[in-house]
Amino acid sequence: MEKINAVITGIGGYVPEYILDNHELSRMMDTSDEWITTRVGIKERRILKEPHSGPSLMAVKAAEELFSKTGTKPEEIDLIIVATSTADYIFPSCASIVAEKLNIKNALAFDLQAACSGFIVALDNAASFIESGRYKKVLVFGAEKMSSITNYTDRTTAPLFGDGAAVVLVEPTTEKTGVMDSILRTDGIGGSHLMLKSGGSVNPSTYESIDKAEHTVYQEGQYVFKHAVTNMAGVSGDIMEKNNLKAEDIAWLIPHQANLRIIDAAANRTGVDYSKVIINIDRFGNTSAASIPLCMWEYEKKFKKGDNLILTAFGAGFTWGAIWLKWGY
Ligand code: UT7
Repeated sequence: MEKINAVITGIGGYVPEYILDNHELSRMMDTSDEWITTRVGIKERRILKEPHSGPSLMAVKAAEELFSKTGTKPEEIDLIIVATSTADYIFPSCASIVAEKLNIKNALAFDLQAACSGFIVALDNAASFIESGRYKKVLVFGAEKMSSITNYTDRTTAPLFGDGAAVVLVEPTTEKTGVMDSILRTDGIGGSHLMLKSGGSVNPSTYESIDKAEHTVYQEGQYVFKHAVTNMAGVSGDIMEKNNLKAEDIAWLIPHQANLRIIDAAANRTGVDYSKVIINIDRFGNTSAASIPLCMWEYEKKFKKGDNLILTAFGAGFTWGAIWLKWGY
């Protein structure tokens, strides 16, 4: 029997209209366009302003675009995985809300939480579901409303994050395209250095937790930065070496968009020419699990069938990894 591969056959994306730029942020807190641009590489980020809305709103718009581009019908979808750390509610899952809003009734739907690495972990999971032969049309989302967990009085984290969502359709193929290999890792050493301290079952919400701003991102920036550089750059090189891929074999390197300096480190480690490194951090900031699929959404038209793509991410946990993907259309 021929091997079944899992290939991406379509993409949709959505970012909110509202643009929060560095100049507006500089009026809100003691920061500057110059600091944010040189230290992180962000100029502006999108913010979801609709009241009482979560990532499901953006995920649904992304999926509607994908459906109309690919001619896919909701009843054909048999699995939905939403990578998110900012789900609409603790439960029910964002995936089940997305399913309801899209009128998808024949699918298993669940959320996957691996912080900023969520999309590559979800894509690798989707590939396993497809390769098993049991699932045929899988939607993999990265969807985040990071503004809902951002403290806009803290200059060390407020400039970093933005909102957005993107989705890929994954299907079986017997061609040699799709997810070729992955390396995914976790090290719990990162746990206390990048977290949301309250709102979970260990520290449920209290007046005190709200007063102490424990429902927004806590990050020890330099500690996280060092691990991000070592691990994300390292694993990008490792997956290429493992598969005998040279820098010139890679059509596109798609790194998680947390800091331009971390992206540069991954580019250097792989040797991939900078013109082939996809960057949109300047316009969208760090959209956590949505950052890699948003890059793919923006560059879709430049991809060619058979292109080798390396996706790589690092996030809370710590979690990190890389996927080698052969573009399928
Ligand atoms: O998404 C996946 C996981 N997250 C990451 O990968 C993020 C990793 N970390 C980073 O990207 C960087 O550490 C940050 C962007 C968060 C911070 O950059 P940094 O170069 O590590 O800055 P720092 O924390 O070492 O701070 C340097 C200085 C400090 O002032 P002093 O103590 O030197 O006087 C900060 O108070 O910059 C100051 N600072 C700012 N100044 C102006 C920190 N934030 C700001 C700001 N505007 N927004």
